[in-house]
Amino acid sequence: MSNNTLDASTADRGLEGVVAARTAISHVDGENGRLYYRGIELNELAKASTFEETVYLLWHGSLPTRAQLDELDRALKRHRHLPEELLRTMERLPQNSNPMAVLRTVTSALSVFAPNSDDTSHEALVEHATYLTAVTPTIVAAWERIRQGKETVQPRDDLSHAANFLYMLNGEVGNERAASVLDIALILHADHSLNASTFAARVTASTLADMFSSITSAIGALKGPLHGGANEQVMRMLKAIQSPERVTAWVDDAVANKKKIPGFGHRVYRADDPRALILRTIARDVGEANGDLQWYELTERIEQRMGELKPNLPINVDFYSASLYYVLGISIDMFTPIFAISRVSGWTAHVIEQIANNRIMRPAALYTGPMDVRYVPLTERG
Ligand SMILES: CC(C)(COP(=O)(O)OP(=O)(O)OC[C@H]1O[C@@H](n2cnc3c(N)ncnc32)[C@H](O)[C@@H]1OP(=O)(O)O)[C@@H](O)C(=O)NCCC(=O)NCCS
Repeated sequence: MSNNTLDASTADRGLEGVVAARTAISHVDGENGRLYYRGIELNELAKASTFEETVYLLWHGSLPTRAQLDELDRALKRHRHLPEELLRTMERLPQNSNPMAVLRTVTSALSVFAPNSDDTSHEALVEHATYLTAVTPTIVAAWERIRQGKETVQPRDDLSHAANFLYMLNGEVGNERAASVLDIALILHADHSLNASTFAARVTASTLADMFSSITSAIGALKGPLHGGANEQVMRMLKAIQSPERVTAWVDDAVANKKKIPGFGHRVYRADDPRALILRTIARDVGEANGDLQWYELTERIEQRMGELKPNLPINVDFYSASLYYVLGISIDMFTPIFAISRVSGWTAHVIEQIANNRIMRPAALYTGPMDVRYVPLTERG
């Protein structure tokens, strides 16, 4: 089909319904509110798995044996350290830099320190996937401490991925409950089919650019408030509302003014996002355990009111993760970087899958501008 004979109906805004890739990594059943990683339903993984095991599943297609899991665990621990030069560079960044901008910048910079960063062989891609997944928590935690004027904390190799992140963030090993809650949150966020950031990663990979470029693209896409940035927006909304009595007026006003309420809506789900349902229970339990149910209750009230006004608009993953992270003592602008700590495992799985059966992604556009416009020399322009 030549460009000027393209059918306008194929030029969907937002590529809705367009199949842009084949994948065997994860599947979203939007009608029934189900999510599968490599065919295994998410609920099962959230109950029984660990983030490390989920990472293996996403990268290799099946659950690991004990030996395979141990090997991956050792590799992830080995790669937790950030080059000193990058830590020094981070110390020179403006203190008020957005943590997602810092993560994107440092991830990009990592490529110049990796000796074989341009290598797109399968072995090199798995190696880079391991490195990026291992080191992302270190970048996020380091930035939180640097901007607060605190010493950065070196990773420990006797802690799980989740527990080590909390240790590097807080400078002490926290309680096991916090680490296990974060571990589940990391499992829930690990992959989600062809979402915007994963698509960005695959587009970059399809040019045979390196893994670091793909993940840098993905982090840039995740940052937006319509995507990963929504969890921060949910918390800002809760802070703005403050008390349960104000929920109805606030939500009614937002709906009347056609404002998008963060944490609601999804391109694929017609039923509630299964990740949100799991997070709702965890957020309530953690709120109760910490004696701080204020934010959970506020979130629940918003959900109730939205259910009355917009019964067909489901909650999404970002709705209950906000109050959960907040009660765990995490800064609001660190919520999206925590999403990235998990999703880097899915992005890298998609890059590996893309390169294994690659064709450059180059969609068509329907040209809507003028034709045959004469070039007017600068001196003749009015
Ligand atoms: C996720 C999201 C970007 C999906 O966008 P989309 O598939 O392009 O859907 P649209 O923006 O076209 O929304 C479809 C309809 O639902 C409404 N809608 C969607 N999300 C809404 C929300 N969060 N609050 C209020 N109304 C919403 C839209 O206004 C639109 O209504 P209309 O048909 O009367 O104009 C969108 O739902 C959104 O912006 N949500 C808030 C941000 C968020 O939570 N993102 C995290 C996603 S995991």
